[in-house]
Amino acid sequence: MKTIKISQAKSSQDIRVRISGWLHRVVKPEKNLVTVIIRDGTGYLQAILNDKKCQANNNIQLTPESTITLCGVITKVPEERSVPGGLEFVCDYWKLIGSAPAGGIEAVIKQGASVDTLLDNRHLVVRNEETSKILKVQSHVLHAIRNHFFERDCHEVTPPCLVQFDFECCGSAFDINYFGKQVYLSPSNEPYLEMCLPALGNVFCISKSYRAEQRITRRHLAEFTHVQTQYGFITFNDLLDYMEDFICDVVDKVMKSTAGQFIKDLNPDFKFPKRPFRRMDYTEAIAYLKEHGITKQDGSYYELGEDISEEPERKMIDKINEPLLLCRFPAKTVPFYIPTCPENREYTESVDLLMPNVGEIAGGSTKLDNYEELLEAYKKCDIDPCVYYWYSDLRKYGTCPHGGYGLGLERLLTWLCNQHNIRDVCLCPRFIDRCSP
Ligand code: 4AD
Repeated sequence: MKTIKISQAKSSQDIRVRISGWLHRVVKPEKNLVTVIIRDGTGYLQAILNDKKCQANNNIQLTPESTITLCGVITKVPEERSVPGGLEFVCDYWKLIGSAPAGGIEAVIKQGASVDTLLDNRHLVVRNEETSKILKVQSHVLHAIRNHFFERDCHEVTPPCLVQFDFECCGSAFDINYFGKQVYLSPSNEPYLEMCLPALGNVFCISKSYRAEQRITRRHLAEFTHVQTQYGFITFNDLLDYMEDFICDVVDKVMKSTAGQFIKDLNPDFKFPKRPFRRMDYTEAIAYLKEHGITKQDGSYYELGEDISEEPERKMIDKINEPLLLCRFPAKTVPFYIPTCPENREYTESVDLLMPNVGEIAGGSTKLDNYEELLEAYKKCDIDPCVYYWYSDLRKYGTCPHGGYGLGLERLLTWLCNQHNIRDVCLCPRFIDRCSP
């Protein structure tokens, strides 16, 4: 007898097969006949347990979430019976592997359960159809991201998470006692990607970044999946083109994969991002906010030089309603490593990619590539150059114009799957006061 996964059910009809999985739902418990839906991660299948041998087991044990091995024959059912997938597994034998408490998950997570109950029971919530679809989309997105970079001759690297400086200078790096020395959980891996450029050429990484965010918002986590890349010998405009290419290619790959249908289910109005992406300078954005009556929380308008905060930024992008590359932020609002624009030293070669409903999903910039200018930048920001010795060395030993971007995978998923809160696309979200399950 062949052991199969549910995804193989269609091509395994009319022969005796074995399937193991979880009891997703008990549809119809009757004395000599039980109709159940089973799932195994590759799909869902209706199964009928109606043979004498089946009755030898105690039907009462068949509670949702129990694990079970079933043997029987998969057959096509007439359309009018509207069975999901049009197939039914008529079983002649089943064996309970592990039982679950009566009532299954629904007995723990009742209709209208609080956010905290849902989060405390994330280990059970992930089994529901919507959440498991989102996590499957994530898996396909990661696959597409890797293919995107490999097809463009980028090498994947795995930078350390324990680092000796808070590179983003955002003051929100977690510090750790590391054998009696203070180190940080990496808020971004960019300097390590820069380290790799001369050795491997263009590189990327997919790793966790950590930020001790004190606020609870729709889009901030304390631990997130950071997709970062670094390209050598590029200009700022090249960088904008690469970001646009990345989004369009990854979305295209995912929509063509089996996750395409999941995205359509989760986000029925999903529209493929239109190329070219609109590009807007920060200075134009300040004017746009004024023109459209979008203010700060205190009701006043943004002035040039001020950092645009999350909510007004989202109002703007929701109005624009298409991907936006927001460029050239003021020098005083960006980290030390970003160079100013040659045409106007008050602004920098920096960019955020904004998406409707979410706001910023990626941030990028070119990097200071001149040794003396980098030393000057440390001085301005009161940074001890000794700690950054190796970062500075990269400018000493064969520098080049370079740049890259960092994209928050969870924010990309929030946009793709049309979710309101970033926590809903994250396996086990980490944010202030939450580090479990
Ligand atoms: O804009 P950020 O801080 O930029 C950097 O880390 C740069 N070093 C990137 C670069 O130039 N290579 O972060 C990049 C992206 C953001 O656009 C956002 O998508 C995500 O990382 N991100 C977060 N996601 C969830 N929770 C948080 N607290 C995040 N902070 C940043």
